[in-house]
Amino acid sequence: MSSSELPAPTVLMARLRRDLEHVAGYGATASGGVSRTSFSGADRQVRAWLADECEQAGLALRTDGIGNVFMRLEAPGAPAGAPPVWAGSHLDSVPEGGRFDGALGSLAALEVLRRLAEEHVPLRRPVEAVVFADEEGNYHHLLGSTAVARGFAPNELGELRGRDGDQLVDALQAMGWDVGAATRTAVRPGDVHAYVELHIEQGSVLESAGARIGVVTAIVGMGGGHLEFRGRQDHAGTTPMPLRRDALRGAADLLVRLPEVARSVSENAVVTCGILHVEPGGANVVPGLARLQLDFRDPDRERILELEEAIVVAARDVADRHNLKVSYTRESITDPVPLNPRMQDLVATVAASQGMQTLRLPSGAGHDAQNVARLAPTGMIFVPSVEGRSHSPAELSTWEDIEAGANVLLAMVHALATD
Ligand code: GLV
Ligand code: MN
Ligand code: MN
Repeated sequence: MSSSELPAPTVLMARLRRDLEHVAGYGATASGGVSRTSFSGADRQVRAWLADECEQAGLALRTDGIGNVFMRLEAPGAPAGAPPVWAGSHLDSVPEGGRFDGALGSLAALEVLRRLAEEHVPLRRPVEAVVFADEEGNYHHLLGSTAVARGFAPNELGELRGRDGDQLVDALQAMGWDVGAATRTAVRPGDVHAYVELHIEQGSVLESAGARIGVVTAIVGMGGGHLEFRGRQDHAGTTPMPLRRDALRGAADLLVRLPEVARSVSENAVVTCGILHVEPGGANVVPGLARLQLDFRDPDRERILELEEAIVVAARDVADRHNLKVSYTRESITDPVPLNPRMQDLVATVAASQGMQTLRLPSGAGHDAQNVARLAPTGMIFVPSVEGRSHSPAELSTWEDIEAGANVLLAMVHALATD
């Protein structure tokens, strides 16, 4: 049997569980969830913890200019410059998010490196566990993996602001990093051998089907933009209802119409307004401005553009009805990304060889994998989410499913690092 045919070791589940539970304490909220925005205090704590863990495990740790963390296991005897296998995800969360979104793939990747190191598994190429910065898009959706896939120009970086209006460049500086380095993060196609991301499904397809491992076929495309309704700021006590030009009333009318707007485009289309900003923001003032932050998605690129158009048409109609002005600003359109068929087959084969029932399914959530897929063959492994809950403190996956997913990740990384 050659070294590449030796079975991979398995993860130490007690350690992986300890890590997941420990990391959930950084940014823990009273509701049992996690608020760990990139470059926040909680993010600094988790970065310091990662550095300690790497030191103990004898792994080198490097942070690039935008805050992506690379933990590296060398392959003694591999040719210099051999492209590494990457496995990873993200450790930032949405506000009041769950304990597993991103943390699972990041900490399982660290565990994979530890196990390969501890068992002195012979490798033909290095393996890196990658934790991408700001996947959840406080400053930019999939910030870190976008920086790796294409890089950011200085002026583009300078324009990025967080939910609180703070500037990304200030946040990077406050971390003690050189902002110039944030524009030198791009990795060339071919510099990475392959990428694998383990993630919770965040929907209920696997649970409903009774499958333990999801083989991800494609990642949804998405659009982002904002609508601004402008009316007239007035006194809440003295302005009769029929005379008002209430910007928030227009926004509310649009929100009520969104399910029908989505349905008119495709059965898979979804539209969400998760941030609503009202000005001037006084209980006794009729709102003069309402800004809706929109996230709209569909597996088909053409449908995303149709959806955007349908939202704008509905917004204009609403504005007419309420005697308002409306403007729309597109922020981004991200194409749907099919994942590499050979990587899909590898997930399926490895999982089947471990006795797992698998199911192929697309991802309705965005992932760093969609950016890395531009650089290297990329695969994703899903494990079931209890009741499909995610982006919520209710997010949950069973430890059995987590262990199964982590072992599929380990065996895949082993296969890719020895092929
Ligand atoms: C990431 O979680 C996304 O789907 O926005
Ligand atoms: Mn998420
Ligand atoms: Mn995620």
